[in-house]
Amino acid sequence: MAETVTSTTASVGAASPTGRKALAFDRIGMVFPDGTEALRDISFGVERGEFVTIVGPSGCGKSTLLKIASGLVTNTSGSVQVDRERIGYVFQDATLLQWRTVQANVELFAELHGLGKSERRRLASEAIELVGLSGFENHYPKSLSGGMKMRASLARTLTLRPPVFLFDEPFGAVDEITREHLNDETQQLFQREGFAGLFITHSISEAVFMSTRVLVMSARPGRIVAEFDVPFEYPRVPDLRFDPDFAHLAGEVSHALRGGHS
Ligand SMILES: Nc1ncnc2c1ncn2[C@@H]1O[C@H](COP(=O)(O)OP(=O)(O)OP(=O)(O)O)[C@@H](O)[C@H]1O
Ligand SMILES: [Mg+2]
Repeated sequence: MAETVTSTTASVGAASPTGRKALAFDRIGMVFPDGTEALRDISFGVERGEFVTIVGPSGCGKSTLLKIASGLVTNTSGSVQVDRERIGYVFQDATLLQWRTVQANVELFAELHGLGKSERRRLASEAIELVGLSGFENHYPKSLSGGMKMRASLARTLTLRPPVFLFDEPFGAVDEITREHLNDETQQLFQREGFAGLFITHSISEAVFMSTRVLVMSARPGRIVAEFDVPFEYPRVPDLRFDPDFAHLAGEVSHALRGGHS
């Protein structure tokens, strides 16, 4: 995955490098070969230092959009601009290799990128510490909790130091408290690394807590129907979730998600 631009029609990649978004969708449409129209006319960009979250009904095309960004699926109209060289992609399922220790799992991407052993070790150790898994380097995935597996998966992606980080509902399968911890850690990583984040979730609270901007998608074919800037300063403390302004914004997102009907 080394190309900079994929496009089936027009390209938005002609701007100067300084004027470019890290990730930009321009009038993306997706109709699968069986005729299923998953996405229609999606346009938005994400810059480094922005964390954009998409919420939308099940089946509206959110995962398809991330697959288009990463090149796993080719859009049928519009264009996407992204540097795929070091794109980070975290899935709902941690997808760890059961026969490798945490350390060896976290080293995997660096290994696939041909980095030397000492460099791999250094990157992996740093990432393991960042996600709070120090002391578990020699454990195998089967002895980790769901939240710890997700941390290992995050660490593995962090070794790439990706300028663009895609998250497809990574914390959907963990309990509420673990999810809040992972939200907290993810926003700290975002602050530290300054990547362009594109995150998908069904949790409005998670969306508002972590993001600089929340996009709401309609039912299939997915379109962007509302957009909210999130004004809270980083770092965001867990108690922000109980702030009246937070509740108000979450309420607005929820309203848009229900199609503007209360
Ligand atoms: N390869 C495919 N062929 C045909 N239809 C597909 C294919 N992949 C996805 N779809 C359809 O496209 C639509 C969008 O799917 P997608 O997985 O992107 O939804 P989603 O918003 O991620 O849903 P969820 O919130 O449940 O994860 C769905 O109707 C799905 O059945
Ligand atoms: Mg999905």
